[in-house]
Amino acid sequence: MKLILNLIILISFIGLINCYGESDSEGNPNYLERESHNMLNVVRMFPREYKRDFMVGFQGIDDILTESRYPSGVNPLFYYNSLNRLAKAHSFDMATKETSTSKCFQHNDCNGTTVNDRFKNWDSCIEKGAYGENIAWAKPPQTGIATNNQLICEKFNAPCPSDQVVAEIGHRDIIMSFDYPFYSVGVGNYESEFNSLYWTQDFLGTQCVSAPQSPIYSGYHTYYPATSGETLFLVTFYSPKGALVAKKMNIVFSNTKINIPLRYGNSTFGIYSHKATTFTDCQQYYFETTTTDNKVFRYPETGYLQTTKTSSTCVGWNLEGNNFVVPSSSEETTDSSGSSSEETTNSSEQDGSDPNNSNILKLNGLLVLLFLNVLLFI
Ligand SMILES: *[C@@H]1O[C@H](CO)[C@@H](O)[C@H](O)[C@H]1NC(C)=O
Ligand SMILES: *[C@@H]1O[C@H](CO)[C@@H](O)[C@H](O)[C@H]1NC(C)=O
Ligand SMILES: *[C@@H]1O[C@H](CO)[C@@H](O)[C@H](O)[C@H]1NC(C)=O
Ligand SMILES: *[C@@H]1O[C@H](CO)[C@@H](O)[C@H](O)[C@H]1NC(C)=O
Repeated sequence: MKLILNLIILISFIGLINCYGESDSEGNPNYLERESHNMLNVVRMFPREYKRDFMVGFQGIDDILTESRYPSGVNPLFYYNSLNRLAKAHSFDMATKETSTSKCFQHNDCNGTTVNDRFKNWDSCIEKGAYGENIAWAKPPQTGIATNNQLICEKFNAPCPSDQVVAEIGHRDIIMSFDYPFYSVGVGNYESEFNSLYWTQDFLGTQCVSAPQSPIYSGYHTYYPATSGETLFLVTFYSPKGALVAKKMNIVFSNTKINIPLRYGNSTFGIYSHKATTFTDCQQYYFETTTTDNKVFRYPETGYLQTTKTSSTCVGWNLEGNNFVVPSSSEETTDSSGSSSEETTNSSEQDGSDPNNSNILKLNGLLVLLFLNVLLFI
């Protein structure tokens, strides 16, 4: 379904207030949102590789994310804190309106304000441009990557409809869309008192957010398969028209700097990864790339990311309270664990989902998904 709406547009410009990759004073995005955003960028840039490596166990995936419908090379998305708050506000609205007998699972606000008005009234940037929204409802635990995969597949516990079944692939289309050029994604999740987890993915194509200059659109970690006990760090590098070329990518932990390999793509459009065979809670890290013209970009620009899981007390991004001494480049080590072939999972035991999670989902019926794709013409 695609609604085409015409609006009168007020022209105004706002910039990004934070350094890129930070959270803001309201704490967005949280760790599930960071994971979701980063893995959305992986599937957008490298759909075939993503499907092979991160949708293990899904049925019917031979005919999804096909080259003919989703060519490689869809731009990754910067996140935009304000849009992230909008997404979270909608998840919060749905979660807090749930009662023991009813749910408010819809794009419109629970009080009837339309989704269009929600976008329009949020801020002067969000009110114009194309937007799309995916919402999902599930029983926790449901990770960022698991939610993305359900939305991409479009089905729970059944073969994913092929790319040919156009009427059934609305979520997949929004996730893979070129309509949101270079700009924002906000991913909100919120748990209700009835133990439901609500997700809102909001996509925006706008001219008025000044995009960060960094070639690192996102970087974070994920746990995949969830049962593996490993921590996989992934970071996206993209420079439109190849203006910046990566010479190297490092992941910097508090006591070591590791040069990490290219996993997919090339040095102007690529994903670098590093695999740790263990999980260390609250481990601080950031990514740092040096380009061939010797520019250095850090992600996040200030502060540190932190490894987290559901039970963790630490937040996904932190500025305070660390005594992080950045190792000199002479201390760099080279990572040999991150190559694509070594990380490809292909075991029937690793079906890509937490068995407990699957059971909970089965007991409670289908994961419910809705989508809306709206194009506004300026
Ligand atoms: C409707 O709900 C939204 C989300 O909670 C809220 O922001 C908005 O102010 C409400 N509108 C009215 C008219 O109550
Ligand atoms: C890198 O990959 C992108 C996307 O596939 C492609 O457009 C570009 O030409 C490649 N650059 C080089 C130097 O191979
Ligand atoms: C991958 O999985 C397939 C199907 O289970 C199996 O036949 C094949 O041997 C596996 N390959 C590797 C490298 O484990
Ligand atoms: C499933 O839940 C049980 C009970 O909480 C726990 O002991 C077990 O480790 C969980 N299994 C996995 C694979 O997470």
